[in-house]
Amino acid sequence: MKIAVLPGDGIGPEILAEALKVLRALKLPLEMQEAPVGGAGYDAAGDPLPEATLALARSADAVLFGAVGGWEYDKLPRPMRPEQGLLRLRKELGLFANLRPAVVYPELASASTVKPEIVAGLDILILRELTGDIYFGEPRGVHTLASGEREGINTMRYTESEVRRIAHSGFRAAMQRGKRLCSVDKANVLETSGLWREVVIEVAKEYPEVELSHLYVDNCAMQLIRNPKQFDVIVTGNIFGDILSDEASMLTGSIGMLPSASLDANNKGMYEPIHGSAPDIAGKNVANPLATILSAAMMLRYSLNLAAEADRVEAAVRRVLAQGLRTADIYSEPGGAAGTRKVGTREMGDAVVAAL
Ligand code: IPM
Ligand code: MG
Repeated sequence: MKIAVLPGDGIGPEILAEALKVLRALKLPLEMQEAPVGGAGYDAAGDPLPEATLALARSADAVLFGAVGGWEYDKLPRPMRPEQGLLRLRKELGLFANLRPAVVYPELASASTVKPEIVAGLDILILRELTGDIYFGEPRGVHTLASGEREGINTMRYTESEVRRIAHSGFRAAMQRGKRLCSVDKANVLETSGLWREVVIEVAKEYPEVELSHLYVDNCAMQLIRNPKQFDVIVTGNIFGDILSDEASMLTGSIGMLPSASLDANNKGMYEPIHGSAPDIAGKNVANPLATILSAAMMLRYSLNLAAEADRVEAAVRRVLAQGLRTADIYSEPGGAAGTRKVGTREMGDAVVAAL
């Protein structure tokens, strides 16, 4: 099986190196091929998604992705910016279903800024539509009005078929979990959301066992903090899902803990931590590699059909947390909680390998 390895920028290469260590320790017949993306792609080939990188991603069975972005690229014209490499990869590979599970490990319930009793035992899945919405809608741009003032434009749009396929993904995910699906929109204001809701209700007829509910996105943002355990699966559009998944990450203690899978219609996928490239801590051996290691576990499960190996990796992560190992983001300063020890990126990766 061929894995395209795209480390990207900032902490991307460091955290991906730890995930690769873990995969190698499993001694599977995996062929890893690396290519630059994001700022690294721009530096290497003048393009955040070099042609060779896209070709490798297309030909691979799965893609393992680090993170992209850096201050040095912020002044480039928008199509050349690192984020465009990631967005184009998602679009080109048709990765419309983005699974972002938020799980609170028992040892980390007190690492969340939300009270432990609110988050302990949390296990929810945010399913974010990933190739439509205001991220890709045309028209877009900045133009100058007759008055001489500039105006910025982005367009939120969803076709029925785009909503239908992510709704099906949502209902199928709910069937495999707690059989509850909450669709999140802004149907009280946006026509796009009105259509979204209609289509989700239509699709629901095919899944009579799933209990469907609807929330406006502002209410959902509040409910996630008030009582997150009311949710099982949340399905939502691209931009609402972007925002709600960052919010949900804080329930788990750290954004450094959240993996993701982005799947196409045939479960080919790209796997990446939901956090960014964190240029402020890049190269310092302090980033948390667990979101990336857990993303590799998702790759084993969803694209490579290796559920037993995925379970092993997830169990190893639980074990190192139980052993008290904490990267800076999940270590409670000052001094740390009883029985915990602050470790660096590499030490955390080594500990997961040892736990395997
Ligand atoms: C994410 C990120 C990306 C997004 C950025 C880096 C383009 O925030 O994966 O959530 O907005 O989708
Ligand atoms: Mg985001």
